[in-house]
Amino acid sequence: PGIAFGLDAPYSVEYHDRIASTNERARDLAGQGATDIAVIADEQTGSRGRLDREWVAPSGGVWLSVLTRPDVPTARAPLFTLAAAVATTDAAREAGVGAHIKWPNDVLVGGGDGESAGRGGRKLAGILTEMEGEADRVDWLVVGPGVNANIDPDTLPEGATSLSAECGTPVDRRRFAATLLERFAELTGSPEGLDRILPAWRERSSTIGRRVRVDTANGSVEGTAVDIAGPGALVVETREGRQRVHAGDCEHLRD
Ligand code: BTN
Repeated sequence: PGIAFGLDAPYSVEYHDRIASTNERARDLAGQGATDIAVIADEQTGSRGRLDREWVAPSGGVWLSVLTRPDVPTARAPLFTLAAAVATTDAAREAGVGAHIKWPNDVLVGGGDGESAGRGGRKLAGILTEMEGEADRVDWLVVGPGVNANIDPDTLPEGATSLSAECGTPVDRRRFAATLLERFAELTGSPEGLDRILPAWRERSSTIGRRVRVDTANGSVEGTAVDIAGPGALVVETREGRQRVHAGDCEHLRD
């Protein structure tokens, strides 16, 4: 598996020049009983973002979905999304782009302390995870990172960037995808790997230590992000004390 793609990870690769959505395809494969497959496309015509949002995926991207059947309880599934964010960040850094992670799983460039915007930077990649299972066991898990690789940022939504724009030259997408998948497999393929995900995520996060506002289904939480806990909740120090936020849109505020 994966030999033709030159991959040192336990996935077979299914490549498409154009497809509606790699997540959709991986879900179909899950329905057929398959596992350990990475679906990769150059272009998507019906891609899906988080919270049912549209995701623009023209030719030149690394649109990718990994189907696995990990032997973990459903409550640990968010760890796999964090692992994909770590893997994407590492692949970007290997390509020479200084990426970091905004909670929960946006991969950004710039916007750090030295820059005036201070609001989190330009979005390079996002991740959509879908799964099915019972509380005690995941049946299948599809983790789908979408990376703006060799794309003119003028064709992307405002605030987005691409690897080629940051590097000033196109990147080797095959190598990028291989690094991402190898790193993802390393982190998710064993209990020891799973234990390394939260520390690796903390190290690469630009959210921890920042003032944030998180818009959740139950209103906004504002304060200082102090940690990531459990399978992926953001711990925010607010005026009323510490709160754990499990899901929502996070904005980095000016310090
Ligand atoms: C986000 O909203 O930030 C997440 C975007 C995830 C997009 C990727 S592209 C590969 C995979 N296939 C999809 O249809 N969506 C994800």
